[in-house]
Amino acid sequence: MMVPQAPSESALPRTGTCETEVFRRLQDLQSSDADWRAGRSALHVYWAGEDVQRISAQAYTMFQQSNALAPRAFPGLQQMEQEIIAMSLPLWQAPVGAGAAVTSGGTESIILAMQAIRHRAREQRPALARPVVLAGRSAHPAWEKAAGLLGMHIHRVPLGSDFCMDPGAVAGAVTGDVAGIVGSAPSLPFGTVDPIPALGALAQKYDLWLHVDACLGGYLAPFVRAQGHAVPEYDLSVPGVRSLSADLHKYGYAPKGNALIAYRDAEDLARNRFYFDNWPKGGYETRTLAGTRSGGALAAAWAVMTNLGEKGYKERAGQIMQTRARIEAGLRDIGGFELMGKQPLGVLSFMSPGRDAFISEDRLGRLGWYTSRTAHPVGLQMTLTPIHARSTDRFLEDLERVVHAQADSSKEVAISTY
Ligand SMILES: Cc1ncc(COP(=O)(O)O)c(C=O)c1O
Repeated sequence: MMVPQAPSESALPRTGTCETEVFRRLQDLQSSDADWRAGRSALHVYWAGEDVQRISAQAYTMFQQSNALAPRAFPGLQQMEQEIIAMSLPLWQAPVGAGAAVTSGGTESIILAMQAIRHRAREQRPALARPVVLAGRSAHPAWEKAAGLLGMHIHRVPLGSDFCMDPGAVAGAVTGDVAGIVGSAPSLPFGTVDPIPALGALAQKYDLWLHVDACLGGYLAPFVRAQGHAVPEYDLSVPGVRSLSADLHKYGYAPKGNALIAYRDAEDLARNRFYFDNWPKGGYETRTLAGTRSGGALAAAWAVMTNLGEKGYKERAGQIMQTRARIEAGLRDIGGFELMGKQPLGVLSFMSPGRDAFISEDRLGRLGWYTSRTAHPVGLQMTLTPIHARSTDRFLEDLERVVHAQADSSKEVAISTY
């Protein structure tokens, strides 16, 4: 892997740069990236295959100058957005009357959910200065980012020994300042699905908003289930769940810049509406955070969903579950590993009590793997995608080598070529 070089020039090129040179430099800049095409990156890239990439890229190019901010100018984009929503809501068993909007990613969806929670809290309790939302220790940091922006607070509740939120601990944390609860389906660090039905019951009991962060699971869980695997209840069919976020740019296989925020009741979407007309240009309206929105990203997401269909998503979910089973079997063969809780979807997180050092030293990284770790407890974490089928055998071989090399720390591990 090459180390990126410091920028050689900081000023705008005086006369521009020819296409050949632009692409030569882009290739250079890309050469230091994690080798995800070989399945060597533990996370960040969700790849559905060469043919889907081609369709996505062509759709992106067709609409890259279009702006989804302006439905009058680009009615086709508005139709695609509506169709993406119509294709998505049934995946989460949304009831009649549900509504959704396309956002730029999980973080934007989370900020919008928090805005909606705050909006409702202020309606119900105008004196509530700083609404609190209860989350598990494993919730994504985007929740704190949103809270900081919106003058709210996230209270993180300890997890149970199953690496999931503990409904008893959540109930114990409910105070007069609490406006909502968030559960993950699944969480990024551990891949576990929080007990959404129990959280839903608490939300109903205390009249709180329950959001399900299905950024990782929303476009995978329905197809894992369709493949015959058990997935805990997590979606809009669960009583008490009021909103759900799911990222198209993860297991929806759309290019980056695509996600959904969905509400059980379309009227809650209005809590994210922004309208202003006290300036010279008259009315300006948005339903999400962004102003200008990439037509390219939206069109590519629509093209990928339309092209893959249920069959395409289901096949890929099957590949992911097969890879997961192969890695889990490999971990058992090597020995000394423990999964961090029950992980029904794409995230695989495991620890090796007593062998933390080999994980912390990142010996796998030295063998050309882009690894991802958990800090508490120390472990390795992977977000499995169809591409990992290519690298599973090699991964397990290298994992075994580093584990044995660590046991005999005098032995250095040779850097492999691949
Ligand atoms: C569970 C969960 N929520 C939220 C996010 C944030 O999503 P994004 O990076 O698209 O903003 C992620 C990202 O990995 C996630 O795994």
